Amino acid sequence: MLQDKDRIFTNIYGRHDWGLEGALKRGQWDGTKDILAKGRDFIIKEIQASGLRGRGGAGFPTGLKWSFMPKQSDGRPHYLVVNADESEPGTCKDRDILRHDPHTLIEGCLIAGFAMGAHAAYIYVRGEFMRERERLQAAIDQAYDAGLLGKNACGSGWDMDVFVHHGAGAYICGEETALLESLEGKKGQPRMKPPFPANVGLYGCPTTVNNVESIAVTPTIMRRGAAWFSSFGRDNNKGTKLFMISGHVNTPCVVEEELGITFRELIEKHAGGVRGGWDNLLAVIPGGASCPIVRADQIMDAQMDFDGMRAIGSSFGTGGVIVMDRSTDVIAAISRISYFFRHESCGQCTPCREGTGWMWRVMERMRQGNAAREEIDMLFQVSKQIEGHTICALGDAAAWPVQALIRNFRPVIEARIDDYVSQHGMAAE
Ligand code: NAI
Ligand code: SF4
Repeated sequence: MLQDKDRIFTNIYGRHDWGLEGALKRGQWDGTKDILAKGRDFIIKEIQASGLRGRGGAGFPTGLKWSFMPKQSDGRPHYLVVNADESEPGTCKDRDILRHDPHTLIEGCLIAGFAMGAHAAYIYVRGEFMRERERLQAAIDQAYDAGLLGKNACGSGWDMDVFVHHGAGAYICGEETALLESLEGKKGQPRMKPPFPANVGLYGCPTTVNNVESIAVTPTIMRRGAAWFSSFGRDNNKGTKLFMISGHVNTPCVVEEELGITFRELIEKHAGGVRGGWDNLLAVIPGGASCPIVRADQIMDAQMDFDGMRAIGSSFGTGGVIVMDRSTDVIAAISRISYFFRHESCGQCTPCREGTGWMWRVMERMRQGNAAREEIDMLFQVSKQIEGHTICALGDAAAWPVQALIRNFRPVIEARIDDYVSQHGMAAE
């Protein structure tokens, strides 16, 4: 288990001063100028060596992403964009960084921006995060007043501006290219990739879009070294990570832990165990709503990281662990998630626009049991026609929970249909 001395986010519960004075006491902004003096290549190589993978859900290697930014300027400005549009159900870690430890992110913007040749960073904050946006802006103002941002930031000779942009509450704007569209003042709809933002991003310029946590951990990695960060976790799954544990546990929480901790240990140590004891555990969604739901026996001893979750047929996503005990109607839970994706679809592509609504309607009948058993396979097959056939990952995200329910909880669906038929004396229409 991670020791307190190894935690990057030392004020994640807001027990101490969030402001600059408190941040300085916690060691933030310490030697930032010296870090920049080591040069762009050094910083990018160090982040690559640390093994840091994107903390927004996809897990793309952060240093590799930074390395895609052009080394030489072709006259176009470079931009860093921070995705603070945290909206994945079950996910609430970036919110706590913005609220309680905003200087980790702001210092990270300077270091990452410098490494990719950007003089401007835009932080796109989720529409509902009013207080978080105010807190972040206040911390940015403190950094400007102290000479940590702006012209000659930290006395480094590098000019760096950080701007906050407030979203308007659309989940799809968390998709990086929809976010860029929205930032440009347009309707937030995903773009086709490639080109990736490193080539054609904000205003057509080289851009890197990173999650809040990914940027906020970089100053500590640079101060303590890549070897320190990569000493946590295991190959391909390095470092510490903020986990968000919600649902039927005794003490829901956000906690920083080492990647690779087992599910059982994570829940025992930090969430006070499952409500009603381990025998009462039914199912878990391991990393936010788009991650496939798994049974208790599948996840109990699994390692909580990218490979560990893949090994049990799910994905690690954001690290938002949703725990469900035996009182849960899993069909209703997945139907509700289907409704969410139907509501949030931007409507650009037909399989997503039509398919998410269709899946939700069938799921609602399955919830009641008002369906034929053959429809279970049909639902699975239709979901396969959505997956991989859309512009952005929302189509996949809508299909995976439904597929996983069928894979892992088929007997529950069949029993629900059988009950309905026995009560109503007829097969479903
Ligand atoms: P993705 O795998 O398409 O991309 C991940 C990142 O890597 C992007 O920045 C992309 O530009 C970059 N990338 C991937 N392949 C590349 C290549 N060949 N060349 C250059 N860059 C490349 O995944 P996406 O759509 O960005 O994210 C999906 C994930 O987001 C889901 O797994 C989900 O867990 C998570 N998510 C998180 C939310 C939150 O609130 N934090 C909300 C919704 C989804
Ligand atoms: Fe929009 Fe859905 Fe297509 Fe994504 S998959 S671009 S959300 S319609």
